[in-house]
Amino acid sequence: MLGSGAREHAIVVALLRENVGHELIVAPGNAGIASERRVGGTVETVTLDASNGKLVAQYAVENGIDLVVVGPEAPLVAGVADVVRAKGIPVFGPGKAAAALEGSKAFAKRIMDAAKVPTGRAQRGKTVEEVEAALDALGAPYVVKADGLAAGKGVLVTDDRAAALAHAEFYLQQGEVLVEEFLDGQEVSLFFIADGHDVVPFSPAQDYKRAGDGDTGANTGGMGAYSPLPWLSDRWGSEASFVDEILDTVALPTVRALEAEGTPFIGLLYCGLIVTAHGVRVIEFNARFGDPETQVVLPRLVTPLSELLLAASTATLGRLPYPRFSSDVAVVIVLASEGYPDAPVTGRAITGLNAASAVTGVTVLHAATTRTADGGYVSTGGRVLSVVAQAANFRAARAAAYEAMGLIHLDGSHYRTDIAERVAR
Ligand code: AMP
Ligand code: GLY
Repeated sequence: MLGSGAREHAIVVALLRENVGHELIVAPGNAGIASERRVGGTVETVTLDASNGKLVAQYAVENGIDLVVVGPEAPLVAGVADVVRAKGIPVFGPGKAAAALEGSKAFAKRIMDAAKVPTGRAQRGKTVEEVEAALDALGAPYVVKADGLAAGKGVLVTDDRAAALAHAEFYLQQGEVLVEEFLDGQEVSLFFIADGHDVVPFSPAQDYKRAGDGDTGANTGGMGAYSPLPWLSDRWGSEASFVDEILDTVALPTVRALEAEGTPFIGLLYCGLIVTAHGVRVIEFNARFGDPETQVVLPRLVTPLSELLLAASTATLGRLPYPRFSSDVAVVIVLASEGYPDAPVTGRAITGLNAASAVTGVTVLHAATTRTADGGYVSTGGRVLSVVAQAANFRAARAAAYEAMGLIHLDGSHYRTDIAERVAR
C-alpha cells in the first residue's frame, strides 16, 4: 500500500482484522503503522517514493507483491497505477486518465455531462474577465474552484465578490478555475468500489471540513466524520434506497462513461454529494478513499476488505455480493496541530496514547507522527491523529471518542467538539 495517513492506518487495521495472515507492506507509512502490533498478519513499512511509478513497479516485481493499493491522490494523478499495472500486477487505484476525475474539475464536469450526472451549474474561466462574468452570471454566494489538485484548499465559498475574485486570480496562475452555483444542504461522502465496469456501494459518511465548531474557520482536509447517516431515512425511507439512487444516477453512469472512453476506473470512486431541496448534486469526485471518512466506514465493514480490493483490481467485482456493514456506528475526531491548516507547528511530544487506546471501542490511528529515541511520539504534520470510536449508538461512540481524546496531550493542538453531535441527540 502506498500512503502515509490515518486513512492508510485504517486500511491496515481493517486488513489485519480479517485475521488471515496478510503480509502488508506500506510505503512510506507512518510511525503508527510501523508500530502496529495487532494480530492477524504482519505489517512492515518501507522507504519508497510513492509518486515514482518506476520505483514502485520495480519494488512490487522484486518483492512478489500480489496487490498494490494506492491510498492518496498524488500517485494516482501522477500515473503510478498505470506503470504498476503494465507489469501485470493488480492495482487498486485508477490510472492517470481516470484519476483526472479528481485531478481536474473541468474533466470531472465533462464526464458528468456525458453521463448525465446531476451536479451544480458551472462556468469555466481562463481569464479574470471570464471569471467576473461567471461570478455575475451565477450570483452570490460565490463558489470558486481551482481546476487541479490543491490539498483541500482549492475551493472558496464566500459572499464577498472581491475575495472570490482574489481566490480565482491566485489559481488562474496554475490553470483554469471553475465558478459553480452555490448548493445548499447536507453533505454526504459516499464510496463505491469499481472494477472498470461493475460498481458496489459502501455505507455513507459525513465529513466535517471546517476547522472550527459550528462549521466556522478555514476549510481543512477533514476534522471528523461519522457513519452511517440515520437522517437519510427521513427522506429516502432507508439508507439503502438513497445509496441505490446514487449508484444508479451517479456512480454507475460515471464508471460506464469512463469505460466507454477507454479509460476504465478501477479503484474507489468517492462521490462528494450535497442533498439539496431539489435533489442530490455531486460537488466533487475523488479517485481514492476519503480521509477521515475511511476511518468510520471501514470499522463497520463486515465483508473482508481484501476481497473487494482484489476483485476490483482483477475485473471480478460483478461476481461478489454487495459489501455488508454492521449496524454499529462509528465516530472519528481528528487531532490537529497548533496553526493547522494555515501553518501547523510540528515537532511536539504526544502523550496519553496508550490510555486513549484502552477506552472501550476506541482505536487511535496515526497520521503525522514519528518516534523518538526513547520510544515516545512526536508530531510531524497538520492532522496528527484520528481517534475513532465504534459503539451501538452515536451517544456512546461520541462519549468514548471524546473521553479518549481528553487523555491525549499535544501542546497547542485543537479538535472539534461537535462531531456527530446532531445525530447523537
Ligand atoms: P471540495 O474540495 O470540492 O470538497 O469542496 C470543499 C467544500 O466546499 C465542500 O465540502 C463544500 O462544503 C463546499 N462546496 C463545494 N462546492 C460547493 C457548492 N457548489 N455549493 C456549496 N458548497 C460547496
Ligand atoms: N475528507 C475529504 C477527502 O478525503 O477529500
